[in-house]
Amino acid sequence: MILYFSASGNTEYIAKLLAKELDDECIDMNERIRTNDYTRVFSKKPFVICTPVYVCDMPTFVREYIKRLPFRGNRKVYYVFTSGGYAGMSGTTAKKLTVRKNMIYMGHAELTMPSNHIVSNAYPPTEPDECRRRISDSSGRISGIAYAIKHGEKLTARHVYLFEKLVILPFNPIWVRYMQPSKDFRTTDKCVGCGKCSRVCPINNIQMIEKRPVWGERCAHCMACILGCPFEAIEYADITPCKDKYNIRKYVSLKDI
Ligand SMILES: Cc1cc2nc3c(=O)[nH]c(=O)nc-3n(C[C@H](O)[C@H](O)[C@H](O)COP(=O)(O)O)c2cc1C
Repeated sequence: MILYFSASGNTEYIAKLLAKELDDECIDMNERIRTNDYTRVFSKKPFVICTPVYVCDMPTFVREYIKRLPFRGNRKVYYVFTSGGYAGMSGTTAKKLTVRKNMIYMGHAELTMPSNHIVSNAYPPTEPDECRRRISDSSGRISGIAYAIKHGEKLTARHVYLFEKLVILPFNPIWVRYMQPSKDFRTTDKCVGCGKCSRVCPINNIQMIEKRPVWGERCAHCMACILGCPFEAIEYADITPCKDKYNIRKYVSLKDI
């Protein structure tokens, strides 16, 4: 069973390719996370958890969800991380999480995809040609990853050095606590009040009031709202108006997989 969370489609694309290759079912965790749905998951085949990397680690809300979710059947868990090129401590966190659940950590793969973190000037947007190259290169790695999973082999990824962990350990919570304000999100006159932003927010942080989204304070900066808006009617401060609203659906169709 493949379980995935995805805000702008990168991880969804990878998860669906993997599910096809493994002839396995694929579950979108977004709705489950949003609705606090902890219905147990059962699989005869190994579990594969696919998630983006946020601030050099697994997204907190994905980690918290996996921690509480009852897994039944197969005890092996693989992880596939998509990032803009640096997965940091995601593998270390995944291993700890899995062992604590009395399950078997089977390693992880790191796939470099287009960066979707458009609300920060710290991360430059990925140019369209580079987006195409990353999507194509990562797709090309799927059959190798699926082969390892089918044959019960462990996945291996880059070694994370102690000094990296020592930097990330304080950096991640400080960034998450202070660098992700939601007050700078706003809608433009392109907004038709469809409410999609509210429905895709994994942590229920967007309320529709008088047909306009209002952001609460718990934002995870996942980009699901701003990059999922069908009218590109959401902006963040003066950082995003001139930036492309990246979504993998501009490059590939997820329906045909
Ligand atoms: C809040 C946030 C933090 C991110 N931090 C990192 C990071 O530390 N390293 C990195 O390489 N990419 C980072 N990214 C980029 C995403 O991991 C990457 O674009 C991912 O493929 C997005 O997946 P999705 O389209 O399934 O949501 C970050 C993105 C967001 C939204």
